Amino acid sequence: MGGFAAMLVLVCSHGYAQTNTTVEVTVHADRPGAIIHPEIYGQFAEQLGHGIYGGIWVGEHSATPNIRGYRKDVVEALKAIKVPVVRWPGGCFADQYDWRDGIGPRDKRPVRMNASWGGEDDNRFGTHEFMDFAELIGAKTYLSINVGTGTPREMSQWIEYITADVHSSLAQERRANGRDKPWKLDYVGIGNEMWGCGGSMRPQFYADVYRQYATFVHAPEHAPIVRIASGANADDLGWTDTAMSMAGSQIDAISLHNYTIPTGDWKHKGSATEFGEAEWMSTLQGALRMDELIARHSAVMDKYDPKKRVGLAVDEWGNWTDQDPSAGDAALYQQNSLRDALSAAITLDIFQAHADRVRMANIAQMVNVLQAMILTDQSKMVLTPTYYVFDMYKVFQGATYLPVNVQAPAYRFGNVSVPGVHATAGRDATGIVHVALVNLDPHHADTVHLMLPGIKGSDVHGHVLTAPEINAINTFDHPDRVKPAAFGGAIFKQGVVTAVLPPKSVVVLDIH
Ligand code: AHR
Repeated sequence: MGGFAAMLVLVCSHGYAQTNTTVEVTVHADRPGAIIHPEIYGQFAEQLGHGIYGGIWVGEHSATPNIRGYRKDVVEALKAIKVPVVRWPGGCFADQYDWRDGIGPRDKRPVRMNASWGGEDDNRFGTHEFMDFAELIGAKTYLSINVGTGTPREMSQWIEYITADVHSSLAQERRANGRDKPWKLDYVGIGNEMWGCGGSMRPQFYADVYRQYATFVHAPEHAPIVRIASGANADDLGWTDTAMSMAGSQIDAISLHNYTIPTGDWKHKGSATEFGEAEWMSTLQGALRMDELIARHSAVMDKYDPKKRVGLAVDEWGNWTDQDPSAGDAALYQQNSLRDALSAAITLDIFQAHADRVRMANIAQMVNVLQAMILTDQSKMVLTPTYYVFDMYKVFQGATYLPVNVQAPAYRFGNVSVPGVHATAGRDATGIVHVALVNLDPHHADTVHLMLPGIKGSDVHGHVLTAPEINAINTFDHPDRVKPAAFGGAIFKQGVVTAVLPPKSVVVLDIH
């Protein structure tokens, strides 16, 4: 680790004195890795709570400013972070969804119970509304197909309705409902959590069901559809093994779901806002676990697919806390703090480090549900700390991954310890190298010496996201408490960037 083990005391720009730990980070531009698929910055929008209704869709006649029924503020915020792909309509909701309920005149659509999450759904938001929404924000489309209570015939008719450019009855029905040209359908998920809410299947049974459905995914020749198998819950390697061995040749990607529960107890998950350092630590540890999960699932996939043709799609991930006490009928509504921002940053770092296998990921979820990007209340909107991480990290979309080596003292709490600094790097198409650095330690600043062999830069700029408290949040009244600021703590000298990371912070540097 060279000679950087010193502990210093400095007064940082926030004006507080901190013990300063020295860290060495090397970015290996000489060993470029895979392209970072933009789709790892994907999002998940399930038909539940106030995620779609009120969060995305308010209808044309709403007092909330809207574009053809979509909230203008939300659309603009999503466009600003370049959302690459949206997964819809579930989740558990998808395996009870009849796509025919959501087409035709809105006032004639049936009202159904939302059996997964409670309440009723009058289907105002259906296929046209989803596909148009994705087009509006410039995102690819990912449909989760009803396998649990549906049929292959329903699936293939839904796909034809969306994608056919001929004069079949289904394509004509789409035209009669207001859409002449077909939409581009990019991904289909063959069921969701088939081991659980999708049908309580055993992996052997599901592998055959997958093969059956995959056979009937008929894509237009010029517009292939990626078929994603419903994959494992967390560390269920056996599920991945069985699916890959029995159906691997028909699988384009397989999913993985993993949520971090701060307390580790699904019955009492912990508060999104009222927590101490123990749950700060356990949540960041949960985020770090993603590395081991991907490595282990990928190793199983390697047995059947050593060339990594099949992608891993982490199409549900994030922090899941107790529902906010003020949530009312907004199922799975939780606030979002600086802790969520750091765990999102760590998780995105990990996806990038596995860019050769991870081709897509979808944070759960987009608006008003779980670890949301955006919270809304009537006409008010607030961007969360997690949103700002996606904003800072958008520079990595499509960049070439550059391996990083971090030599950092551990951050310890009680008898738990994790690496004090997490990092990732990529070179974009214009040659700019972007480096993200996360200081997990809530007490100590870090002086990072960034070694850049093979990088001819002379200039460094950056942004930092931090706040005075670990549980700092943005609210409708105080929307700017956790927001990126220009970072003045980095200098470039003799080929080395030295950056002072505040405690509990995310910094993204651009090296020209
Ligand atoms: O994201 C909420 C739920 O979590 C999804 O519906 C389900 O797939 C998962 O269990």
